[in-house]
Formats: sequence, C-alpha cells, structure tokens
Amino acid sequence: MAYELNIPTAASMLGGEVNPLIAEGYVAAQKFAGLRPLRLHLGCGTVRFAEWVNVDMDGEPDLRLDLRYGLPFPDACVDAIHSEHMLEHLSQADGRLLMSEAHRVLKPGGVVRIGVPDLAEIVRRYDSADWRDQAWIADPNFDWIDTPVALINVAFRGWEHQYLYDEGELRRRLLAAGFTGVERVEWGKSAHPEFAGLETRPETDLIVEAVK
Ligand SMILES: C[S@@+](CC[C@H](N)C(=O)[O-])C[C@H]1O[C@@H](n2cnc3c(N)ncnc32)[C@H](O)[C@@H]1O
Repeated sequence: MAYELNIPTAASMLGGEVNPLIAEGYVAAQKFAGLRPLRLHLGCGTVRFAEWVNVDMDGEPDLRLDLRYGLPFPDACVDAIHSEHMLEHLSQADGRLLMSEAHRVLKPGGVVRIGVPDLAEIVRRYDSADWRDQAWIADPNFDWIDTPVALINVAFRGWEHQYLYDEGELRRRLLAAGFTGVERVEWGKSAHPEFAGLETRPETDLIVEAVK
C-alpha cells in the first residue's frame, strides 16, 4: 500500500514543528499499513493480541506511538480498533482527536471498541455501602483507601487518569467524531467475532462499540 507521511497534520498539531519522535512513529507504522486485516490494539500495555498491531507509547509494543498525535495510517484502511483502559489516560481534547482519528482510519463499516472505567459506577459507589467491594482495592498498594472520598479521588487522579467517561459522554464524543450506531456491550462479548473475549480487566465497567 502506498504510504504518505502526514507531516502537515503532525506539524499543525505541534505549532509548525515536527517532533522527531512523532515522525518516527509515522515511519514505523509503514510496515503495518499493508496488513490485511489491519486491527489496532491501542494502549496495549503488557497485553498482546495475536493478529492485532499492539500499540503503546511505553513497554514493548509492536508499534510505538504517542496516541495524542493521531494514527499514522491512511484514510479507511483499518478493519478494527480496540482499546481497554487507555482513553481515560488522555485529556478530553486528546481523546476527541483520537476518536476522530479512529473514525478517519477505519474502513466504512469498521468498528471501534472502547472499554473504560464507568464514571457513573464510580459515583454510585461513592454514595453506597458497597464502595469497598471491588477486587482492585484488595491490592496492598491501595490499603490506604479507607473512605469513599479516598476512593473517588483515586478514580479521578490515580494512574494519571485525565478524563473519565460515563456512557452518555462516551456516546456523545463518538457520535461527534462521526461514528454511528454506538452501542453499549457486555464485557468479553461481541457480535463481531474479532472483539469477543478481549477484555482482561474486571474493572472495565463501560464498554461500547461504534460503527463507522
Ligand atoms: C492502564 S494501562 C492499560 C494497558 C492495557 N490496555 C490493559 O488493559 O492492561 C494504559 C496504557 O495506555 C498507555 N498510554 C497512555 N497514554 C498514551 C499515549 N498518549 N499514547 C500511547 N499509549 C498511551 C500507557 O502506556 C499504558 O500502557
């Protein structure tokens, strides 16, 4: 597949200067651009999916990208995009850019599946007797979380979280990015076989699939 380095887009995002790291990401993406099917797993961390291009800015991904600067692929060449517990690590503006980039690179009919913590569930727990009843709190690193106030502060500020979503907000942002048919789906389940069984975190409470 012909590949065009989208320097003008990258440059305009950076006030006219092209960051060499971003340019490297664009070049590195070339070797994946011809894959069929081309499936992107964004913010993979240590989770690796076979037959997906595992993307992250850290660790040992297949493709190292800073997702704040878009997806260095041509329009309409990607079949599927998955991310779990990544979008909330971006600011609202960076998240909006990534959703619009996901829409741009997906083929018509392509699906993006996004799993994040659910702000509605976090707020519900803050006001509920069962606030402590979450598997991740049992981790000794979190033994200092002794009140619902500590819990909600961690949800917003922990792990470098930047922006939390509830279903309405995630749906609104995806529709604004151009997606149609945004649907909330169950953990691990999908009508699209390539997405079934991909979630790894019990705390991924909010999962949607959106169709281009
Ligand atoms: C909480 S981890 C989730 C990892 C994996 N998806 C999982 O569920 O275990 C968030 C991941 O998003 C990645 N990430 C955060 N901001 C990013 C960015 N701007 N560009 C690329 N990756 C990013 C982090 O490096 C990290 O691996």
